[in-house]
Formats: sequence, structure tokens, C-alpha cells
Amino acid sequence: MTEVQSRPKWGTKLGIILAVAGSAVGLGNFLRFPVQAAQNGGGAFLIPYFISFIILGIPLMWIEWAIGRHGGLFGHGSAPFILNRLWKNRVTKYLGTIGIFGPVVIFIYYTYIESWLLGYAFFAITGKLLLIMTAPGMKDFLTVYQGLAPGSNVWTAYLFFVITFGINFYVLYRGVEGGIELLSKIAMPILFLFGLIIALRVLTLGTPNPLHPDWNIVNGLGFLWNPDFSALLNSKVWLAAAGQVFFTLSVGIGAILTYASYLKRGDDVVLSGLSAASTNEMAEIVLGGSIVIPVAFAFLGPMGATEAAGSGAFNLGFVTMPLIFNQIPLGQFLCFLWFGLLFLAGITSSVSLAEPAVAFISDEFSLDRKRAVKILGVVLFLLCQLPIFFLGQGVVDELDFWGGTFCLVLFGTIEVVIFVWFFGMEKAWEEMHYGAEMRIPGFYKPIIKYVTPLFLFFILGFWFVQQGLPVILMHGVSSSLMPYVVATRLGLITLFAAIAILVRIAWKRKKALGLVE
Ligand code: TRP
Repeated sequence: MTEVQSRPKWGTKLGIILAVAGSAVGLGNFLRFPVQAAQNGGGAFLIPYFISFIILGIPLMWIEWAIGRHGGLFGHGSAPFILNRLWKNRVTKYLGTIGIFGPVVIFIYYTYIESWLLGYAFFAITGKLLLIMTAPGMKDFLTVYQGLAPGSNVWTAYLFFVITFGINFYVLYRGVEGGIELLSKIAMPILFLFGLIIALRVLTLGTPNPLHPDWNIVNGLGFLWNPDFSALLNSKVWLAAAGQVFFTLSVGIGAILTYASYLKRGDDVVLSGLSAASTNEMAEIVLGGSIVIPVAFAFLGPMGATEAAGSGAFNLGFVTMPLIFNQIPLGQFLCFLWFGLLFLAGITSSVSLAEPAVAFISDEFSLDRKRAVKILGVVLFLLCQLPIFFLGQGVVDELDFWGGTFCLVLFGTIEVVIFVWFFGMEKAWEEMHYGAEMRIPGFYKPIIKYVTPLFLFFILGFWFVQQGLPVILMHGVSSSLMPYVVATRLGLITLFAAIAILVRIAWKRKKALGLVE
């Protein structure tokens, strides 16, 4: 049992709460949420959003914390072995493989996008972005940066990628307490400060364009938040709300599971999980809801704001926002804060995506953490070349679909079902409450046992028919991209198989040592 004792632990309770909040607060809070809300009924979107938060988000948060802590006691920090402790069955560890594969797939493209934010923060502060005054100009700047424009190359972006990747791995190399926890304690307060400054500046902009007195911030907030209740009758709105809750809380992928495996036995799960989730909601609704859409409305008017929201989260973040900052006094500085904020939000998320794989290698092959980080660093660096050099061929969209959408809902469902049905609700309830500083209200018991899993099945089914099938059948993929899409999918299957084989090897090894049943 010496291996069990040598696992790293979090230093403080605040540290783990901030680390989980750091994983949750990401680009999703500042770009994805406002776009989803604007497109799905505005203020009315908050109703399905809150319902999903209560019956899906919070239970999954508690469940992941509880299962992770349970696994950590037995020396396991990644899903295959943790889930197998809850339900001893031959297939469990392969289902758990998704909890390493999913985060790795997201990491591969997330880190590259994160590095653009570092690049843009640099271009903001050096004044380069300030010189571009039109939307086509800003779009060109982005495509040139990405190396997609004719005659351009990717090397500037590559440089920022190498720096970003280096910081990520430096943090991971320093360990759980000395790396991830320290990063979260520094980055999270700065992130909130930057967000607050930007939100306050935006809310005091008044009417920036005297020619359009009704294009102002108050109407901009109204534009985002005025409820369109008819949206509630639309199943797509419910699907979007549930998807956003999943995505923003970082649940259902294995990342929080691994973070929770570094808790001590008696550490509280209930209040801490709730605190991390609430911190995320603050960043999402208060900050995320007061920045991009209201400001786009005040400068571009209702039509322009609708168009900006419809053009997607990236366009809004990398094109619309810098253009708007160019028209505000001190805009150069605010633009730097904006990209700095997004970069910090990104990096506290990306380290949590790499951690399940680190935990798997070091726990299950009994390797020193630093060696595990080095090995994974080489492998992930090589994998990250794909989105960099094949961005124009749709590789990022593929990875995002499989890692960031499909695995999330699927793995979330697997976790809940194994914990509450196979491990058993009574034991699960007890496990969640061990060391808890607050009791979960009793009505949550039937919710977690029946409502959460059934809601998940429902979402999985609906999502599969509405969005999954068309993508799987490659509807709308142009014939020139087809070979790349097929190649990416074959690559993903190979990656999954490779991880599953490693799980099997680790399993046999531990079994021979008598460490697993
Ligand atoms: N929560 C992150 C965001 O809002 C994105 C995300 C989804 C994520 N799943 C994750 C981050 C798992 C880290 C780990 O942007």
C-alpha cells in the first residue's frame, strides 16, 4: 500500500475549490454562454439553464467529487480504475477509458486555441490590433495568424503555441499542490479582477453612438435578457441549455474526477463542490452575461448584435471584441485585459484536461509524477501538431464534436448510472456525505437516483437524433474535406484503442501484484 500513501494531495480547501472552479471557468463562460443565451430565447434560456443546473449540473459535480475521492483512497486517480472500484465488471475499465481519452482529445485542440489568446493579448498590448479598423481586416488578421490565408504561415502562432504548451507542462511538472493549486490561487483572482474591470467599463459605456440613441448598454442587456417564453416549447432550447451546463461545469469528462482523487478521506465534498459550481456560475452569468452581447448591441445595434452572435463564439471573441475595444478610450488596455482574462481562463482548464492522463500513468504504472509528465508531454506535443497544421481541414471541429460533446454526455451518463445504480444509491448517498460540512436536502435523493439519469438518457437520445446522426453520417461535409474527416476519425479510434490497451496492461500488472480485484 505504499503506492497509495505517496499520491499527491491538495494543500488547502480553498486551493481545490479554486482548482475545480479554474477547470470550469473557461472560454465557455465568456463566449459560448452569451451566444447560446442570445440564440435560445434570451432571458427565457435561464429557465431551462437553471433547471439543468439543479438536476444535472450540481448532482454531477457532487458525484464526480465523491467518486474521485473514493478512488483516491485506493490509489487510483483516473476513471478506468476508479469506476471499477464501484462496479466490478470486465467492461467497466474500458468504459472508464473514455475518462482519459475525452480530456486528451479536448486538450489537443483546446491548448492551441488557448495559445491564440496569448498571441492576441500580446498583439493588443503592443498596439497591433489597434491599427485594424474593419471587420474584414480583423478577420484577415486572424486567418493570417492561423496560417490559413494565401501566402501566410503558421509560425507566429506556432511560437505562441510552444510557449503556452510549455507553461501548461511546467505547471503539471511542478505537481498538484506546487503547480495546479498555486496556478489556480494566482490566476483565479486575477481573472475575476480583469472580468470585473471589463464588465464595469462595459456597463458604464452608456450610448456610445450618438446617431443611434437606442443603441445603448441598457437596451443591450435587455436584448440578451428579455425573455422569449415561446422558446421554452422548443426542445432545441432545452438541449442547448443542458449542453451548456455540462460544458461550463467541466463535468462528465473525467477531469474533476481526477482532481477529487487528491482529496483526503475526510475532506468535504458537498459544500466544496457547490462552492466551485457557484463560482463558475458567477463568472458565467454575471461576467459572461454582461460583456460580449451588451457591448456588441451598443456598438452594432440589434441587427449587428444578432449577426455577431450568429457568427459564432470565435468570431465574437477574436473579431468583434477587438474592433469594439478600438473605439473605446483605453481600449488597447481593455483589449489586453480581455485576452488576458480568456488566456487565464483557458490555462486553468487545460491543465485539468491533461491531469487524468498524468494520474493514469503515474498511479497505474507506479511511475514518479515528473517522469509521467515528461512522457505525456512528448506524446501530447506530437498530437497537438494535428490541429495546428490541419486547422483548415476541419480537424478542430471533429475533435470538438467527439471530445467536447459526444464523450461529455456519454461519460456523464456512465458515471451516474454506475454510481447510483450499480454501486447503489444508499452507499452513494453515504459516500457523498462522508466528512460533509453540509447535508444535501433529502429531496435530492430521488432526483439523483431517477431524475438525473433519466434526464441524461433523454438528452443523449435527443442529441443523437438531432445532432449526432447527421454528423456521424457526415451530412454537409464537402468532398474535399472528407478524407481528413475520415482520417481524423480513424486516428481517434486508434487513440482510444491505444489507451484501452494501456489500461489492460496496467490492469494485468496490478493484478499480478495483487493490487486490484
Ligand atoms: N468548462 C470549460 C469552459 O467553460 C470547458 C470544458 C469542458 C472543460 N469540459 C472540460 C475544461 C473539462 C476542462 C476540463 O470553457
